[in-house]
Amino acid sequence: MGAETALYKAGPSPYAELLRAAAHIANTRSCRKILSPLIGCPVPGPSWDESFRMNIFPTATEFLQHRCPDRPVLAMRPHAAARAAKWFLEKFPGRVLYATKANDSQLILEALAQAGVRRFDVASRAEMERVCSIDGAELYYMNPIKSRGDIRHAYRDFRVRSFAFDSHDELGKVLAETDGADDLTLFLRIACPNTHSLIPLEGKYGATVEEAPALLLRARQHARRLGITFHVGSQAVVPAAFGETLTQVGQLIVSSGVLVDAIDIGGGFPARYPHSDPPGLESYLKEIVQAKDALAIKHSCELLCEPGRALVAEAEAVIVRVDARRGNALYINDGAFGSLFDAAFAGFRFPARCVTPGRATLGSAETAFVLYGPTCDSADYMPGPFVLPDAIGEGDYIEIGQVGAYGRVMANRFNGFGDFEEVMLADEPMMSMFEDNAPRVSDSIRSVSL
Ligand SMILES: Cc1ncc(COP(=O)(O)O)c(C=O)c1O
Repeated sequence: MGAETALYKAGPSPYAELLRAAAHIANTRSCRKILSPLIGCPVPGPSWDESFRMNIFPTATEFLQHRCPDRPVLAMRPHAAARAAKWFLEKFPGRVLYATKANDSQLILEALAQAGVRRFDVASRAEMERVCSIDGAELYYMNPIKSRGDIRHAYRDFRVRSFAFDSHDELGKVLAETDGADDLTLFLRIACPNTHSLIPLEGKYGATVEEAPALLLRARQHARRLGITFHVGSQAVVPAAFGETLTQVGQLIVSSGVLVDAIDIGGGFPARYPHSDPPGLESYLKEIVQAKDALAIKHSCELLCEPGRALVAEAEAVIVRVDARRGNALYINDGAFGSLFDAAFAGFRFPARCVTPGRATLGSAETAFVLYGPTCDSADYMPGPFVLPDAIGEGDYIEIGQVGAYGRVMANRFNGFGDFEEVMLADEPMMSMFEDNAPRVSDSIRSVSL
C-alpha cells in the first residue's frame, strides 16, 4: 500500500470528503471499488436516480405535472423487482436464477443484483454482455439451441459453465466448442406438458421420454455435474404443474438409472393480472418441496429455478397518451409492437388508470375500452378490456401496469415507433403477488364485459 493510501486510511482525513464526492460524481461501481479502500469504508452506492441519471417521482401523475411526454414512458419501480427477488432468495429451497429475457433493462438488473441475485439465465450473446456488468454474476446458458460461436464465447469470455441441451447434436456442439472441458454442468431439457400455463412453451424444445435416457447417459460421461431442466410454460396458474413434472423427472431418473446432481425447474411462476389471479407463491413452493421430497435422490440433488415474469412483472408500467377516441376505442401511442405485445397476441389484460394531472376526478362512471396502438397495422389492437373513466379522451394519459415482464423486450421499430422515455416511480405497482393487502383489481374487472 502506498504512503498516500495509508494517509487516507489513517483516520478522518480532509481528503475523505473529497474522495467521497469524487466517487459520488463518477458514480460507477468500479470507481467505488477503487475508492473504498482509500476512504477506509465502503463508499455508499449511489441511489437509483443518481446511478441512472433519472428523476424519481412519487407517482405517474406527479411526473406528468413536470412533463407532457410525447413518447410512451416506461415507468420503473425497481423496489418491486427487489422485493420479488428477496422473496425468492429467502424462500426458494435452492438456487434462484433470473431469466434475463423477461426484462434486460440495466436498472432492473441492478435492482435484482442489489437484492442479492447473482445468477442469470441467458439465452444469447447480447444477454451475456448485459448481465456480465453485474459484479459476481454467474451465467447459465439455458437456451437449448445455441450457435457454435456463442457457445465458444460463453465458455471462454463469459465464464459460462452451465449449458442446456436437448439432443445429441446440441450436446456434441457444447462438448466440441468447450474443447472437452472437465468443468461443465450440463442440463438436459426435457419436454413436459404445459397445460397449466397461460403461455405454453411446449413443442419447440425438450427431449422426449424415449430420447432422454441415452442423452443422460452420454452427458453423465462428460459432465462434472449433470442436471435435468424443464419449463412448465409461462404464467403457470396451477401449482401442480411443477409437482407433476417433478414426478415425471423422478420416473426418468429411475428408468434411466442415471443419477443427476441438479434439477432446474425453470420459470413459469405467475404474476397477478386482471385476467389471472393465481394462488399465492407459497403454494407453489409447497408443491415443489413435496414433489422433491418424494424423489429417490432428494438428499443429493440441488434445486434451481429461473423465474422471469414473477420477478419483474410488477416493476414496470407504461404511461401512454390517448391520441384519439372513437366510441369505446382509444388510440394510444404504444401498442402491440411496443410494450403491449402480450395484450395483443397473448390475450393478456393489464390494469389501467387515468393519470392525467388534474383529471383524477373524471367521475366514477367507467367504461370497458379497447386500445389501438400507433402503427398502421390492424393487429396493433389490444382488446383488453381496459377499464377507465368514461370521460377519458384525447390528451389524457393512462398508466398501464404489470408490463415489466416481456414488455420492453418485445418492442420493435415498426412504423418508426419503439422509442420510450424512462422514469422511476416510488409508489406501489397496481397489483402484486408479494403484498397480502395489495388491491386486487381483478376482483372489480371480472364483472366487466364488452
Ligand atoms: C429457459 C427459460 N427459463 C426461464 C424462463 C422464464 O419464464 P417465466 O418468465 O415464465 O418465469 C423462460 C421463458 O421463456 C425460459 O425459456
